[in-house]
Amino acid sequence: MDFKNLVVEAMSDVLDGSIDNQQISDLIETPKTSDLGDFAFPTFILAKTMHKAPNLIAGELVEKIDSKNFDKVEAKGAYVNFFTDKKAYSNDILHTVLTENDNYGNTKQGQGRNIPIDMSSPNIAKPMSMGHLRSTVIGNSISKIVTKIGFNPIKINHLGDWGTQFGKLIVAYKLWGSEEEVKKDPINNLLKYYVKFHEEAESKPELEDEARAWFKRIEDGDEEALKLWKWFREESLKEFNSIYERLGVTFDSYNGEAFYNDKMDDVVNELEDKGLLVESRGAYIVDLSAENLSPALIKKSDGATLYITRDLAAAMYRKKTYDFAKSIYVVGMEQADHFRKLKAVLKLMGHDWADDIIHIQFGLITTGGKKLSTRKGNVILLNEVLNDAEKLALEQIEEKNPNLENKEEVAKQVGVGAVVFHDLKNDRRDAFDFDLQEVVRFEGETGPYVQYSNARALSILRKAESTDYENADMLSLDDPNAWDTIKLLGTFPDIIQKAAKEYEPSVIAKYALRLAKSFNQYYAHSKILVDDDQKNARLALVKSVSIVLQMSLALLGVEAPEKM
Ligand code: ARG
Repeated sequence: MDFKNLVVEAMSDVLDGSIDNQQISDLIETPKTSDLGDFAFPTFILAKTMHKAPNLIAGELVEKIDSKNFDKVEAKGAYVNFFTDKKAYSNDILHTVLTENDNYGNTKQGQGRNIPIDMSSPNIAKPMSMGHLRSTVIGNSISKIVTKIGFNPIKINHLGDWGTQFGKLIVAYKLWGSEEEVKKDPINNLLKYYVKFHEEAESKPELEDEARAWFKRIEDGDEEALKLWKWFREESLKEFNSIYERLGVTFDSYNGEAFYNDKMDDVVNELEDKGLLVESRGAYIVDLSAENLSPALIKKSDGATLYITRDLAAAMYRKKTYDFAKSIYVVGMEQADHFRKLKAVLKLMGHDWADDIIHIQFGLITTGGKKLSTRKGNVILLNEVLNDAEKLALEQIEEKNPNLENKEEVAKQVGVGAVVFHDLKNDRRDAFDFDLQEVVRFEGETGPYVQYSNARALSILRKAESTDYENADMLSLDDPNAWDTIKLLGTFPDIIQKAAKEYEPSVIAKYALRLAKSFNQYYAHSKILVDDDQKNARLALVKSVSIVLQMSLALLGVEAPEKM
């Protein structure tokens, strides 16, 4: 049943066609608190035509409105406040959640069309940074959100496995490295070489030339160079995969920058054919001054291609391969200019689908207010963060629930869940300062709090034994404490729409926190397992809350332990 529509119809009846239904619907607001009703119609717009003060109009309208479908209709200031028929609404929402279960909130609007999601995309031979963690978890969550509205996501790990840094790495490895060291602890040692390269190159600029020469050898397919490159890549991937496994994130493709190596000539040729390539001091660029952007550097004077050249090839490849509805890139906002240029060049090439490319930006993570730089070796190592989080989770469990079975497993779900949730709960564009103690806090606005609320709901259901609440008479549910929770359950489909439209997982995370909080309040004030004629209806509510909390956590890529 569409409860908002009941309000539109009631208003329309008394307005005698002076405002059409669509306009009425657009004007209707949701009051901040339940004591102002569930829907409010502001009368300001009528003041001009009715030549009266809005509060008088509100009073008169209330006299005329047929309130049979509502608990009550009241005038408050300039607003007409509608109080939904709680019993009818509760009955409707709870039955819908229970029957639709995991499908609650699903739509078919995507019609199965593809959305490639460029996500994670760390750089080989460097540690995965907090920025890559953000990209991984935001991308993963978006893939689940768009699935819910009927799209088919394709998760692509566009690995940074190509570029001049590999020349630097080979130079550094040959000068200061050993096979044994790399095998023992690949990323840390490769990083060590890389950092040393930059320190040494400050006083010995000739190292840079050597590095360029080595990268050229990789690009030209030189055997020794390629072998080292491949080896660095494999060792790094092993380590990245261990992190993905812990996070429960999978990919549909690991086609990174190197994959496009043999597809670059086509891009350069097309640019040339279309008269877009300009020579500038031996290099080739695309002039973007008409777009108010600095030029896109396509090919260096030594013939080496660049990050953007590979992204042009990748964008075209994805269009050809997936015929995408949208093509999204979950990458930090410091690359905003890069993606503007990418779109601008594609547009100049005549590809209208460039408009379907979306850069999903996110803010920087700092520590102690400072940016983290890989070059200086100043990075937060992700595996360590996850280890610490799991350890803290285990300590909490030991303290609160020492008899829990498979504590270690639950500690993993809670520790990792805490890190992921922390990352997703704020507007993705907000920068945040990384503080481990803050991340693994279990009270307040955290993942463990939501997980705990769900586990509590499940424990009530286990104790209840009866399971026929699915057919409960919700009309008997007459509990003012339940109302906010039921209303929140009812807004879940809108929450999905909003999160999908804005590509914003935080919409779901904030919702999950609100629902958990409201459920805990309900639980604190109502005896759920008392044997009376409302018991099954209360259990139906508890079950519905657990369904929606679990779905919300799943959409964020956070696990939901049954017991905590
Ligand atoms: N590897 C890049 C980095 O760490 C991110 C790549 C993002 N994806 C892309 N198609 N450009 O900065």
